[in-house]
Amino acid sequence: MEIKTIGVVGAGQMGSGIAQVASQSGFQVIMNDIADAFIQKGLSSISKNLDRLVEKGKITSEKKGEIVGRIKGTIQIKEMAEVDFVVEAATENESLKLNLFKELDQICRKEVILSTNTSSISITRIASVTGRPSQVIGMHFMNPVPVMQLVEIIRGLQTSQETFDLVKSLAERLGKTPVEANDFPGFISNRILMPMINEAIYALFEGVGTPEAIDTVMKLGMNHPMGPLALADLIGLDTCLAIMEVLYKGFGDPKYRPCPLLKKYVDAGYLGRKTGRGFYQY
Ligand code: CAA
Repeated sequence: MEIKTIGVVGAGQMGSGIAQVASQSGFQVIMNDIADAFIQKGLSSISKNLDRLVEKGKITSEKKGEIVGRIKGTIQIKEMAEVDFVVEAATENESLKLNLFKELDQICRKEVILSTNTSSISITRIASVTGRPSQVIGMHFMNPVPVMQLVEIIRGLQTSQETFDLVKSLAERLGKTPVEANDFPGFISNRILMPMINEAIYALFEGVGTPEAIDTVMKLGMNHPMGPLALADLIGLDTCLAIMEVLYKGFGDPKYRPCPLLKKYVDAGYLGRKTGRGFYQY
């Protein structure tokens, strides 16, 4: 089946980024979320990103119009009946994703592949709630999606080779570099990244350094493009906590325990850039 229309479930920073990249690559996009305000926010972030490309002379304003024109926002998940491929990019919450996949399995045509942008939850478990586990796969984009080269592709236990091959070539058509990971908590990316971020939060918690000192050490000392605390603010502290909880529960190893300061910040609503306050103020 030729993929012409991609359905993106979730219009947050990941979903809107995926919708933008898909449309820039020539696909029609249907972007769904639960409230119109979320759709509008997603569309406005896409528009701002494209304005930057216009200002830099990388695309014309006509091209911007075409890209925006290919993205349809909707609060009706039933519209996923029209799409040829789904990327789910809703909040990192297991029961929410399981319910979404049950619903998508009912709505989408039987040949459609259902992929998830989960950053840590078991693909095998997500696939198990559908009647098409061989067509369920992890397609994990990095933030900011339009900039980052990597797409981590994760097979569940029952994912077919055909599904894997199609998703790999789709990632390439989106201008990304696919890398295969096995279905373990956090896959490759967050198995390594998130404990580093959590350790940086422990260093702050224990007074080893200020946020600025911790981030500067990692930037200037290790050549990271941004420090771990600034990166946590970019990713969202709620997402970082959710991933640490998956690692902690999934491996049952205390080395993955989330830092109490991370929990406290999430309780306070300090979620990072998206709420204007995380380890830094925005
Ligand atoms: N959306 C779109 N484009 C963006 C952007 C955004 N949110 N932020 C920056 N850019 C673009 C800029 O327009 C600029 O484009 P040009 O090169 O064409 O001019 C380019 O990215 C570089 O931006 P800046 O010069 O403003 O800033 P920078 O050089 O400091 O780069 C950064 C910004 C790309 C975010 C860089 O700091 C970086 O790579 N940080 C690390 C990001 C990272 O590690 N992401 C992975 C997070 S983990 C994850 O996503 C997975 C998970 O499951 C949690």
